[in-house]
Amino acid sequence: MAALVNEKARMVSNEPVGPRLHLMALESPKIAAAVLPGQFVHMKVPGAEQHILRRPFSVYAADSNRGILEILYQEIGSLTRFMPGIVEGEFETIGPVGNGWSGERRFSEGSATHALLVGGGVGAAPLFMLAQALHAKGCPTDVVLGAQTFDALVARTRYQQAMGVEPCCATDDGSYGRAGFCTSLVEERLADGCLIDGVPYDYLAVCGPEPLMRIVANMGCSHGVYTEVSMEKRMACGIGACLSCVVDTTGGKRRSCVDGPVFDASEIVW
Ligand SMILES: Cc1cc2nc3c(=O)[nH]c(=O)nc-3n(C[C@H](O)[C@H](O)[C@H](O)COP(=O)(O)OP(=O)(O)OC[C@H]3O[C@@H](n4cnc5c(N)ncnc54)[C@H](O)[C@@H]3O)c2cc1C
Ligand code: FES
Repeated sequence: MAALVNEKARMVSNEPVGPRLHLMALESPKIAAAVLPGQFVHMKVPGAEQHILRRPFSVYAADSNRGILEILYQEIGSLTRFMPGIVEGEFETIGPVGNGWSGERRFSEGSATHALLVGGGVGAAPLFMLAQALHAKGCPTDVVLGAQTFDALVARTRYQQAMGVEPCCATDDGSYGRAGFCTSLVEERLADGCLIDGVPYDYLAVCGPEPLMRIVANMGCSHGVYTEVSMEKRMACGIGACLSCVVDTTGGKRRSCVDGPVFDASEIVW
């Protein structure tokens, strides 16, 4: 894992892409060169000095040649509602933070040969670089994305461009793909007979709202598929010192920022 870098990341663009969803590009060459799929950045937002704490955002995409990082963010609270108004500035950024997904390493070692990636809402972001990496290495990979509405399925075309096939989609309101939660698509894919090239999945990665991750993790584990979840706990320091982000696991309390955010789902005490 690369050492943490503290870098002033210059904002390059900040565009609305869906309901309360925005895509931000930052010039951050050191982090863009080092980041692995599933890692995140911990950022201090310019012009919001009243917010003492940094905020964590997964790296959605990174271009090491241009030194550019992208984050896909959703307006949730005071700071993420402030961020769309930023037109220029430098973000004090620590990164890349966390362990990242193990899928690429498992594929290289031969323990993951057929992958299923499941992203709910902005949970599609931390999986995108993993999808790119698995696809580039030739690992057969299926992607399931869920969102409330068609407008919120903002990562769909990006995945399609990267993978050459459209991800399987579900929307809560039925405006695109399967109507309802994406868990039904996951259950179908894990059921007997739903295989890639006649081979069952042996690696599942999921990110999204905690109830979705819990359900998908239980499905994966009960089908004997090695399953990873990215636990997006509230974070303060982001460097393992404050214990604000602990996750209960079968091995005791672990810090989501430095021991995670990616965990073996079978070890999570939900
Ligand atoms: C490792 C990691 C990666 C993340 N990646 C992304 C990403 O790619 N895109 C994105 O939009 N968001 C991401 N988040 C969540 C993002 O950090 C929060 O939405 C943001 O910090 C909220 O700040 P705020 O000031 O707007 O909200 P606050 O005013 O701090 O909080 C508003 C509400 O959101 C809840 N909340 C805040 N943080 C979280 C959290 N981490 N998980 C669940 N609920 C939370 C609070 O409990 C509160 O109810 C990630 C979080 C983590 C830990
Ligand atoms: S955020 Fe401080 S220990 Fe994880």
